[in-house]
Amino acid sequence: MRSVYASLVFVLVSVPLMGGTTLGVSVDTSLAVLITVDQSGKGDFQRIQDAIDAVPSFNSEQVFILIKPGIYRERVVVPEDKPWITLSGTNATSTIITWSGAWDTLESTTVSILAPDFVGRHLTIQNAYGAGAQAVALSVFGDRVAFYACRMISYQDTLFDISERHYYSNCYIEGATDFIFGNALSFFEKCHIHSTSKSGGAITAQKRSSVDENTGFSFVSCKLTGVKSKSVFLGRPWGPYSRVVYADTYMSNAILPQGWSDWNNAITQRTSFYGEYKCYGSGARNTTRVKWSHQLLTLDEATPFITQTWINGQDWIRSNPTHFKKPSFPLKNEGDGLESLDGY
Ligand SMILES: *[C@@H]1O[C@H](CO)[C@@H](O)[C@H](O)[C@H]1NC(C)=O
Ligand SMILES: *[C@@H]1O[C@H](CO)[C@@H](O)[C@H](O)[C@H]1NC(C)=O
Repeated sequence: MRSVYASLVFVLVSVPLMGGTTLGVSVDTSLAVLITVDQSGKGDFQRIQDAIDAVPSFNSEQVFILIKPGIYRERVVVPEDKPWITLSGTNATSTIITWSGAWDTLESTTVSILAPDFVGRHLTIQNAYGAGAQAVALSVFGDRVAFYACRMISYQDTLFDISERHYYSNCYIEGATDFIFGNALSFFEKCHIHSTSKSGGAITAQKRSSVDENTGFSFVSCKLTGVKSKSVFLGRPWGPYSRVVYADTYMSNAILPQGWSDWNNAITQRTSFYGEYKCYGSGARNTTRVKWSHQLLTLDEATPFITQTWINGQDWIRSNPTHFKKPSFPLKNEGDGLESLDGY
């Protein structure tokens, strides 16, 4: 998915101080148009999707959508042509987006981010379907997407980390089976990953399919817990060149001693790259790991994986806006946004 378009944005974004650019349109990241969503009717909108639908296509201004506390029972899609949107709750326990859908991974998703330069803050994103089928809470497709202090909750396939570069900071991610999966290049920092599997679950199913793909998941200063001792793998290869590293991470006894699964395909033992660096806790005992996984013993070996440069974060991770203004576009509903899922 990374294209000429993406490299152009990369070059332009990296030049100005905190400015950002999409297709040559300069975006002031310190300033945002403010839209409020409030179920009580005191905001601009009562539904989150209505606020997103009001944002003009190819918006050249940052848009900060503040969502007041409440349980929002709706599917939310941020379409590909609406970059620079932030969805922010007050705190993740009080602003909850929930839906219940299953089987088709994208159609079942509660929140889908197709746009680039998206930020999510202080939200719970839940798929309440429960056990028995794929039921995605959050799908992330767009490039340069970041989530802060969010909770992603489901059972099977919670976080579909599909493509491009993503940053997850201080998030809580819960599930049982392959619950962080996809072919993105992602950095998880200070996240709490909680498994609800009773046996043989897997935290990750990363999908890198060739040696040329620059994708993979890196977890740094995270915490891994689960409901039962020796019940969950660190990862298994959805794609043969699957790449996952955990560093400076606490692992409870929920982690299986062998650590990693080859998903019954011995070839992946040679093609995957599964590593651990300075992890601790009773689930982190490296002597019991499968021989084909990597204990990264030196800082040099670990360095490519353990900072935001893994996702070129130094070029695009942005601070919260400091100034807000009223929208110059009309606050009206332009459709449900769901048609943008067609074709995926
Ligand atoms: C979250 O927000 C709600 C509503 O504003 C508040 O009552 C609650 O104390 C907050 N919780 C935390 C952990 O800040
Ligand atoms: C386990 O980790 C320790 C410290 O990180 C290291 O010294 C040791 O060599 C590792 N053992 C194996 C078998 O990799």
